[in-house]
Amino acid sequence: MKHQEITVIDFGGQHCQLVARRIRDLNVYCQVIPYKKALDHIKENKPLGIILIGQAGKDLTDKHKLVIEELRKTKLPILAINYAIEEIIKNNGGKIESCQDLNDLVEIENTSKHNLLADINSPSKVWTSFFIKSSDLGPGYEIIQQTKDGDFVSALNEEKSLYLVQYHPELSTSENGTELIKNFLYNICKCQGDWTVKNFKEAQIQKIKDQVGDKKVLLALSGGVDSSVCAALISKAIGKNLTCVFVDTGLMRKNEGDEVEGFFKDQDLNFIRLDAEERFLGKLKGVTDPEKKRKIIGEEFIRVFEEVGRQVGSVDYLAQGTIYPDIIESGKEDDQVIKSHHNVGGLPDVIDFKDLVEPLKDLFKDEVRRLGEELEMPDYLVHRQPFPGPGLAVRVMGEITKERLDILREADYIFREEIALAGLDREISQYFAIITNIQTVGVKNDQRTYDYTLALRAVKTNDFMVADWVKIPFEVLEKVSTRITSEVNHINRVVYDISSKPPATIEWE
Ligand code: XMP
Repeated sequence: MKHQEITVIDFGGQHCQLVARRIRDLNVYCQVIPYKKALDHIKENKPLGIILIGQAGKDLTDKHKLVIEELRKTKLPILAINYAIEEIIKNNGGKIESCQDLNDLVEIENTSKHNLLADINSPSKVWTSFFIKSSDLGPGYEIIQQTKDGDFVSALNEEKSLYLVQYHPELSTSENGTELIKNFLYNICKCQGDWTVKNFKEAQIQKIKDQVGDKKVLLALSGGVDSSVCAALISKAIGKNLTCVFVDTGLMRKNEGDEVEGFFKDQDLNFIRLDAEERFLGKLKGVTDPEKKRKIIGEEFIRVFEEVGRQVGSVDYLAQGTIYPDIIESGKEDDQVIKSHHNVGGLPDVIDFKDLVEPLKDLFKDEVRRLGEELEMPDYLVHRQPFPGPGLAVRVMGEITKERLDILREADYIFREEIALAGLDREISQYFAIITNIQTVGVKNDQRTYDYTLALRAVKTNDFMVADWVKIPFEVLEKVSTRITSEVNHINRVVYDISSKPPATIEWE
């Protein structure tokens, strides 16, 4: 079954993913397509409507203009969000009085009862990054929203199916933004809302069956959300023809390897757990430089998989838990860069396979989690926080030894347990402990100690590019610190990291 689609055309703005998220949350399937591929995509996928996103205030290049012109010829409804509006008005013989960067909330009122404004209160406040003043949009346009001073904010041209909105309805700071997008989807484009995770699951299971048939698939399972959900989904389609290889590096958190095995060994697939702790710790012996640690771990993964590849011979398909944000192409002028993400770096280069299976490549992270729930996977797999590929290696400052890893695992476990008990686990984006290479003097049972300092880190972030440290209540921190210093040997001091990113990074190494 093919879902109805709305296509977001990326002319280089920063909000494409956010708009796409809003659309999918309204149960309509949506794809973000770089403008250079827009026309081919539309011909092939026949969307019900188009949304234009670009950098407001930037002059359109000839290439942009050409694509927009061709898009208009499709006669599909087009919503221009704070982009290309100046050009459209000029083309229509209208007049522009001024253009300016605004980056502010603007109070607006409705001047029409058009169904693009259904359920939208008036007045309301909306976020506008760039504002065009035009007292004459040319013939055929109806102004449907304006500022208190009577300046045009939103307008439409029913005959040409063009809808111009000067603010950002995708931002939560814009009141009624979601309603406006919803009205465009349902009232203008006549979408039916056929995009649900349940429908997606069923369609993908069928698609995998059609693609793979009775051939064999290999998946490197990291234990992270994406590869775990990917495994569970493929298993529903092909059962034991799926082999999942989970490499236990010895750098996992407490119980993590057992949790992954606990779930997957009872699933309808072949589960192989490779115990490679000694190998990894052997290679890391004496290494203190963070970049060297990362390099050694990445290379060792490849060596392990070369051996797996030799054992299994050639496989028909290699499965990967690639997700949508990994492959969204940027609409910048330079040639398209595709961020290609491999759950285990370099794997496709060392395994001999015929084709890739990437069933999650259309999903955003929270949709992957919802799919995991739909597949009845346990919470500890589906709502796992992100964990760096090199694992605890980058949370042990200085030399990595089994002893220091075990200390860290125990302390980190207590921190996670208390955060969950306090009900903060879904609010905090990432939280963990770091064992430093600082030893300080302490006192325990009237005896002098000279033990490690443990750091706690907790951040809130949307994109992991910038992050704020979380103001965990003192009582929770107190309990964590008391438990760690009394229950974990060789930790006599606990500190809390109160730095945001930037200038600090989330991980310490
Ligand atoms: P930083 O420390 O750069 O982390 O602020 C941002 C996010 O990326 C994760 N991270 C990594 N993930 N390999 C990974 O797969 C790595 O080497 C790595 N280093 C950091 C980090 O946990 C955070 O979520």
